[in-house]
Amino acid sequence: MTAPFDAVELIRTKRDGGRWGPAEVAWLIQAYTDGTIAEEQMSALAMAVFFRGLDAEELGGWTRAMIDSGERLDFSRLSRPTADKHSTGGVGDKITLPLVPLVAACGVAVPQLSGRGLGHTGGTLDKLEAIPGWRAALSTQEMLDQLETVGGVICAAGSGLAPADKKLYALRDVTGTVESIPLIASSIMSKKIAEGTGALVLDVKVGSGAFMKQLADARTLATTMVALGRGAGLPTVALLTDMSTPLGLTAGNGLEVAESVEVLSGGGPADVVALTLALAREMLSAAGRGDVDPEPVLASGRAMDVWRAMVGAQGGNPDAALPQARETEVVAAEADGWLAELDAMAVGVAAWRLGAGRARKEDPVQAAAGVTLGAKPGDRVRKGQPLIRLHTDTPERFARAREALVGAVRVTADPPPERPPLVIERIG
Ligand code: URA
Repeated sequence: MTAPFDAVELIRTKRDGGRWGPAEVAWLIQAYTDGTIAEEQMSALAMAVFFRGLDAEELGGWTRAMIDSGERLDFSRLSRPTADKHSTGGVGDKITLPLVPLVAACGVAVPQLSGRGLGHTGGTLDKLEAIPGWRAALSTQEMLDQLETVGGVICAAGSGLAPADKKLYALRDVTGTVESIPLIASSIMSKKIAEGTGALVLDVKVGSGAFMKQLADARTLATTMVALGRGAGLPTVALLTDMSTPLGLTAGNGLEVAESVEVLSGGGPADVVALTLALAREMLSAAGRGDVDPEPVLASGRAMDVWRAMVGAQGGNPDAALPQARETEVVAAEADGWLAELDAMAVGVAAWRLGAGRARKEDPVQAAAGVTLGAKPGDRVRKGQPLIRLHTDTPERFARAREALVGAVRVTADPPPERPPLVIERIG
């Protein structure tokens, strides 16, 4: 059978600044998924999109075609509403771990389909796999049962969800076409819409440790994703949040689980607590339960009860000790003063090099590796005070982690200016 369109013609159209019609966009994604369009042709198409962009109609069609490439989950028969959160990824971003049980404890079910990490921002599944016995793979029925009984589930996205995105993302990764707002927006939103959540809150990170370093780009990405969600009938809002310095005091899988458990116990760093509550309020409101205040629910221990049930339902032991790294080293303050800067990207790369992250998707990660912080920007520090503790099972990694931290810490004699707010802007 002859194809209705010619891939080379479509490449030329976009290369020269033209636009594709709806049938062309739908065919292009479907033909790439089934192998009719070759990898080298899709590489050229992705690069043309990178330079020329997609207009709103093309982007809507592109996203719909990616959703239609696979299955779509349906939670409409659950006894409670559903809401989910997606973060564009940041250093020390463990918010999903306390957030999912908190929102579930407030009466809104959370179906969180997550991935493993690649690069300097860890993946949620890697973090949870630091818990002895915990299992990421669930069948759809197991997921539905857990949502009904426990209220929250964090598990691996099955291969049936937006397979076009899986194939395209792997290609973008090796062709320098990841950093394109329409391609990122359609990639994220196709998976979230196919996941079947009833409402969606996006945490779009801005700053050195984020995909989007500039506020204007983060705003464009957030606005694009909110429009795609709403266009698909999914209530969607976005918060733009600061990622110039790590969230909380830990970056690394088991270390972040321990900090999340502190938050669920009523403690934990102020920024992690504040962002968890801000996102919980948005999720509850988007799911029609804006009357519930998550703060007293967190303080009551009910979110901790849900966490324990979630971990237990997936084979994990919530009481088991988390793995400890065999070796640690300290980076100390070189002078008395104020910690003016602690760069998120540098800390993320250090944690990654210590073994917390992977360079290729088949690499293993160390459950105990990472970084703990002894101070946050704005804190007073003393010469010799430990500012960063490095954790790893493989001490030959220390030197490269220290290299990543060169220039990352700035101590000043005078107090630094006020930091930007954690939640910079709301879009929606
Ligand atoms: N995360 C995704 O899922 N897709 C992208 O394109 C970028 C980040």
